[in-house]
Amino acid sequence: MAGVKAYYAPGALSAAFYDVVTAADARLAGDVEIYAGLAPVAGSVLELGAGSGRIAVALAERGLAVTGVDLSRPMLEQAEKRRAALPAAAAGRLELRLGDMTALDLKRSFDLVICPYFTLAHVPAGAAWRNSFATIARHLAPGGLAAVHLPLLELMRQATRPDPDAVVLDEPLPGGGRLRLRVAARAFKESVGRLEQVIEYEELDAQGRSLRRSPERLTYYMADPTPFAAAAGLTYHRAPAPLGGVGEIHVFRRA
Ligand SMILES: C[S@@+](CC[C@H](N)C(=O)[O-])C[C@H]1O[C@@H](n2cnc3c(N)ncnc32)[C@H](O)[C@@H]1O
Repeated sequence: MAGVKAYYAPGALSAAFYDVVTAADARLAGDVEIYAGLAPVAGSVLELGAGSGRIAVALAERGLAVTGVDLSRPMLEQAEKRRAALPAAAAGRLELRLGDMTALDLKRSFDLVICPYFTLAHVPAGAAWRNSFATIARHLAPGGLAAVHLPLLELMRQATRPDPDAVVLDEPLPGGGRLRLRVAARAFKESVGRLEQVIEYEELDAQGRSLRRSPERLTYYMADPTPFAAAAGLTYHRAPAPLGGVGEIHVFRRA
């Protein structure tokens, strides 16, 4: 499909309206509490794929010292705005950095490393997963925990051909306009565990006129994380916690 932007790329509406979409997504309810509950009081947290700061800011507000890393400048710019609006003490507990979780070495360790909301599924489930789990292990203190939120493979397998005219999300925007999302294409490739979707974002003004439409590619890769975690020296700390019926948070421990 011509003119399709990558998710979270500069100019992408998926980045500009990330907070509108996630605020409307009940399937994420409770994730911040799960991550907060895995960290010691006033402990340190590394978030891989911190995005617009939805979780990193909430954890810093709860007294945790958070480093958030992300590959996308437009997402980090939004996180930086959120950080700037925090009271000074919480803002001082949050550090944001541009970086790639598949090749990251901050030369320090944390009590908890988190990789929320399908961030690991954005990279192929081969060398990129191996390297991401190595990043997790490298940044964990002995006995530290890691939480990785992944989509359910069974649901990805059941992906059906979408109706490109069906509106799957219709949310009000500040200022009176609306954001509408449609799924223009969706296909699952079993051999590589890849779900490829094109989501069309449309922004409308307060009179219902279309201001801009942007088709954006959202790809998820899924595999069993157990062998990747084991290769990095991580073992399951507890059974995966289901979240929102579409994913699970896998919690690992470094020996
Ligand atoms: C679904 S968002 C999650 C944002 C945030 N953690 C949350 O839960 O709201 C996924 C984020 O992962 C980032 N990302 C994707 N691949 C990455 C990589 N290799 N290294 C770092 N960040 C990455 C994207 O730029 C995006 O901001």
